[in-house]
Amino acid sequence: MRASRAAVLLVAGFALSGGVLIMSPLSAQEAAPAKTLTPGKGADLTLARCGLCHEITHITRSRLSRGEWQDNVKNMIERGMPIAPDEIPLVIEYLATYYNRDSAAPAPDAAVSAVQQDPVQRLLAENACTSCHGVEQKIVGPSFREVAVRYAGDSGAAAKLAAKIKSGGAGVWGAIPMPAHGGLSDAELAQLATWVLGRK
Ligand code: HEC
Ligand code: HEC
Repeated sequence: MRASRAAVLLVAGFALSGGVLIMSPLSAQEAAPAKTLTPGKGADLTLARCGLCHEITHITRSRLSRGEWQDNVKNMIERGMPIAPDEIPLVIEYLATYYNRDSAAPAPDAAVSAVQQDPVQRLLAENACTSCHGVEQKIVGPSFREVAVRYAGDSGAAAKLAAKIKSGGAGVWGAIPMPAHGGLSDAELAQLATWVLGRK
């Protein structure tokens, strides 16, 4: 009994390492790593913090253990990543949940992602701003960083952008229009415009 159990374990171990061996060349061949993070609790925060210096593909192409993500985040802080102490465990939890080489990622969870975070993150998620704009990535509309850079030094920019978010429109970044967001209050519009302008 014992011998056959050991044999089963051995076979299971073999299958596992075989699987890894087969999978790594496959994933290396994948055309391109995802340009957006898997939606889930902590994704917005992770994008905001980790998208500052390099493409978010640094994350999406990686599969690390929890301990390695901890080291990685520590390393990024040493490289100058601005992050509040209480945000660190949230980011590590997100990375270790969705980009873990030791466990399969759970299904994307946009709902959880949307209800967390600060008021601005909630507004961005509830109004689907983030499905058309990344902080770093141009999606349907320009990246928020491009917008911030374009209007840097323009003292009227906050009012201009608040009005644009409210009414929508096209022509500044291309032919694709942004839809109107008539349901947002003036305070929310101002909050969003100011936040976008701070992304540079
Ligand atoms: C202050 C700038 C900065 C921020 C913010 C930042 N990184 Fe980095 N990161 C770097 C630099 C610099 C490198 C090394 C050069 C490169 O690969 O672009 C790097 C490299 C990496 C690599 C590749 C490491 C390797 O050796 O393969 C990963 C993975 C990574 N970062 C993940 C993250 C994660 C996760 C976050 C958020 C927790 C983050 N980075 C935030 C600066 C930053
Ligand atoms: C369906 C896609 C879509 C959604 C949703 C969306 N945008 Fe946009 N956004 C765009 C496009 C496209 C442009 C470029 C418009 C242009 O060229 O004038 C844009 C432009 C912008 C600009 C720059 C405006 C300018 O004139 O330079 C800001 C700021 C902005 N969006 C913020 C937001 C915010 C905040 C939200 C959520 C409340 C949002 N967007 C939702 C597609 C979208």
